[in-house]
Amino acid sequence: MMKAVVLETFGGPEALTIKEIPEPVPGPEEIRIRVAASALNRADLLERQGLYPPPGKKPAFQVPGLEVSGWVDAVGDRVTLFQPGDPVMALLSGGGYAEYALSHERLAMPIPSGVPVAEGAAIPEVFLTAFDALFSRGGGRPGDRVLVHAGASGVGSAAIQLARQSGFRVAATVGSQRKLEAAYAFGADRVINYRTEKFREAVLEWSGGDGADVILDFIGQQYLEDNLLCLAPEGTLVLIGTMSGSTAPINLGLVLGRRLKIHGTALRSRPVEQKMALVQAFLHQVSGWFSSGAVKPVIDRAYSLAEIAEAHRYMESNQNIGKILVQV
Ligand SMILES: NC(=O)c1ccc[n+]([C@@H]2O[C@H](COP(=O)([O-])OP(=O)(O)OC[C@H]3O[C@@H](n4cnc5c(N)ncnc54)[C@H](OP(=O)(O)O)[C@@H]3O)[C@@H](O)[C@H]2O)c1
Repeated sequence: MMKAVVLETFGGPEALTIKEIPEPVPGPEEIRIRVAASALNRADLLERQGLYPPPGKKPAFQVPGLEVSGWVDAVGDRVTLFQPGDPVMALLSGGGYAEYALSHERLAMPIPSGVPVAEGAAIPEVFLTAFDALFSRGGGRPGDRVLVHAGASGVGSAAIQLARQSGFRVAATVGSQRKLEAAYAFGADRVINYRTEKFREAVLEWSGGDGADVILDFIGQQYLEDNLLCLAPEGTLVLIGTMSGSTAPINLGLVLGRRLKIHGTALRSRPVEQKMALVQAFLHQVSGWFSSGAVKPVIDRAYSLAEIAEAHRYMESNQNIGKILVQV
C-alpha cells in the first residue's frame, strides 16, 4: 500500500484527501517510480474542481499530479531504457501526488546532470509545454520576437528561458514588480507589468511597430483582441490556456488581412505516441541545456504531501514564481 492524494469529491482544496491505496503495478512497457517529488500545475486546480477529468477510462482512484521525479523502482517485461535505481523525471496524465507513480518508459527522462533528483519534478510539464509551443506550434526561429504572457508562471518562466537560449528576442507580461524582476532574470529583453502598462502598446513600441512573431498566451478571452493587434503579419498566436475565460469575439478581417495563425494546444489529452515524440525531441534538443546550467528549473517553494491543500491555496493566490513542488 502507498499514500496518495485521492479525489473522492470535487471542490475546494479540502477535497484533496490522503488515503492508503494499492501501489500501481507496471505494465510491460512501464516503469514504476518511487516518487521524490511531484509538482503543481494550474490544471490540477481545475481537476480538483471536477472540471478537468483525466483522459481515457475512469481510474479506480483519481490521483492528480502531471509530473514526478524520483527513482525507478520496478520495470515491466519489455522495458529497455531504464533499470531499478535510475533517477528519472516523467510526464504523466495523472497519479503524481503519490509515493509511487507509473510512466511509459518513453515518457520518462533521465534527470539531467547537475539537477537534484527532487527538483527534476519542476521540469516535465512546463518545459515540454513551452518547448512544444515555441517550436512546433509557434514555428519560432532564432531572431524572432516572442511575447510570453504570465512570464513568471511555471510555463512562462520555462518559455522565457528556452526562447532566450534559442536566440529569440523575448518580451513578457507579469502582474507585479517582483515578477517583473524575475522575468528579466529568466532572460526577457522587455517585461511589461500589465497593471501599469498596456501590453499591446508596449509590444508594438518594443518591436518598432512590427509586432511579435509568436505569442504564447494563457489568458484567452481578455487578451484575444490585443494579442491579434500586436502580432506581426504571418505571426502565430499559440493558445495554451484560457485563464480569463474561453469565449471572445474575434476580428476575422485582421486574421485574414495579416495572414495570422491561431494554434491551440493541450498536452494531457494528446495521443501517447505524440507525447513520446515530444519527449524524445526535448531530450535531444534541450536536456544538455540543463546540464550546462543555461536553463534551470525554477522552484518557488516546496510543500509536503500532507500540506497539499495549502500548496493549492498558494497557487490559487497567484503568488508563485515558477513551480510549486510537493515533496513525497
Ligand atoms: N495546454 C497545455 O498543454 C498546458 C500545459 C501546461 C499548462 N497550461 C496552462 O498554462 C497556464 C499556466 O500554467 P502554470 O501551471 O504555469 O500556472 P501558474 O504557475 O499557476 O501561473 C499562472 C499565473 O498566470 C497569471 N494569471 C492568472 N490568472 C490570470 C488572468 N485572469 N489574467 C492575467 N494573468 C493571470 C498569474 O500571474 P500574474 O501575477 O503575472 O498575473 C498567475 O500566477 C495555465 O493556463 C495552464 O492551464 C497548459
